[in-house]
Amino acid sequence: MMSGDGLPQALSFDDVILLPGRSRVEPWQVDISTKASRRTSIRIPLIAAPMDTVSEWRLAVSLALLGGVAVIHRNMSREEQLNHVEKVKRHPKVKLAELYVEAGDECCRVVEYMRSLGLRNLPLVSGGRPVGTVRFTDLAGCRCGERVEKYARGEAVYPIDALREALEVLRGGRYDTVALTGEGGVFLGTVVFDEALRDYQPAVDSEGRLLVAAAVSPFDVERVKMLDGVADILVIDVAHFHNDNVMNAVRRFAKDLVSDLVVGNIGTSEAVVDAFSIVERVDGLRVGIAGGNICTTSGVAGVAAPTLYAVMMARRGLEEVGVDPGEVPIIADGGIRGSGDAVKALAAGASAVMSGYMLAGTDEAAAPLIRVGGRAYKPYRGMASRGAMERRFAVDRYSRVAKRVEEGIEGLVPYRGPLEKVVAEFVEGVKAGLGYAGAASIEELWRVARFARIASRIGAYTGTVKTEA
Ligand code: XMP
Repeated sequence: MMSGDGLPQALSFDDVILLPGRSRVEPWQVDISTKASRRTSIRIPLIAAPMDTVSEWRLAVSLALLGGVAVIHRNMSREEQLNHVEKVKRHPKVKLAELYVEAGDECCRVVEYMRSLGLRNLPLVSGGRPVGTVRFTDLAGCRCGERVEKYARGEAVYPIDALREALEVLRGGRYDTVALTGEGGVFLGTVVFDEALRDYQPAVDSEGRLLVAAAVSPFDVERVKMLDGVADILVIDVAHFHNDNVMNAVRRFAKDLVSDLVVGNIGTSEAVVDAFSIVERVDGLRVGIAGGNICTTSGVAGVAAPTLYAVMMARRGLEEVGVDPGEVPIIADGGIRGSGDAVKALAAGASAVMSGYMLAGTDEAAAPLIRVGGRAYKPYRGMASRGAMERRFAVDRYSRVAKRVEEGIEGLVPYRGPLEKVVAEFVEGVKAGLGYAGAASIEELWRVARFARIASRIGAYTGTVKTEA
């Protein structure tokens, strides 16, 4: 792609639109399942970025239950990161709540608690183990001051292996909640009735466990060894993969890995060609440089490979090395503001998009909820921002100082509620996009998509109509 002056054109999401095409399917019939890496399948093309305000085990579990996958960030010690990954792998394929009463709780307070939740029963936990359930109706005789266990029954506790049975019991309507136990009878969490009615289509590994990825530095071989074979995918987490030190470091461990290996970030076709010639195993490409919503690299360094352009270049690079993008997926990383950008990235050849920004405002994102002037927000920051870098050097004594300049900002994003809601909007938008473009699947989109350059702004919201008071 050349412009009139002979310079190559590095297109961004706002530079192009996707043209409509003849459609044979309705949006609800569109299949958006795809790959996150060579051997891992996801049901929706969404990967949570490894950022310390976004991707920890809670978000990873919820996203995998919804069909996507999260990359657990590395701004913590190796042991902590492993713990987050293991928590996801051990988690049952249902959402767990931290709702229970403890042996020793005073029964009148439990009555009030259960009334406020509107639940007819709650697990009773003693010494970290669920020992039964407390039913609201059984508490009718409670005299204030009594311990709640006096009214408990040894029921509604299921080991994780009996999840199916536990869900059946909930569907049967006798209980609103059941407790799940893990190894040694420890309390894993509470399944609430609503969850039993859901039809989860989770992203899972070959043994049916939730899928999870982990970010690694190419220079932290100990971390790589620790996470290999536990996380399904290891994601090389550097701003510029096309660097001899980085590629040589990855080459040293790549071929022996049990987990899939996604390399990045990549911005040019030459980087793809070099990645495949230097590193023996590449199972996915994370592409886009300096396109992120919190990114200041292009201002600081004057360098960028906008995400849409990077996807197009990665596609070209894969063609050059003779690798099918259906085999080694391209992951479009950075600057995705919503489903529209995602559809453009997919149309350009990506298999999935990676986002921090879209997910940072959700309940499940790793940062706490903050109120400013009566409105709710969540912190969101670049991993090369001052705060994130300070944390990295404080918690991980093995991390290397590669640069002395900040390349990201720290800010707040509006609170967006449960992840499920945000993901549902994203999924509907992506399906609609494929429907308009005339594609029944992402692979078909690659074949039929036609882009046009935007001559002037069209139909898009311009900010002239106020949507908020
Ligand atoms: P979004 O647009 O979802 O992008 O916020 C997430 C991606 O941005 C990259 N990233 C950074 N890039 N400085 C940068 O130049 C940073 O501090 C930074 N932190 C994250 C990263 O690729 C991530 O997936």
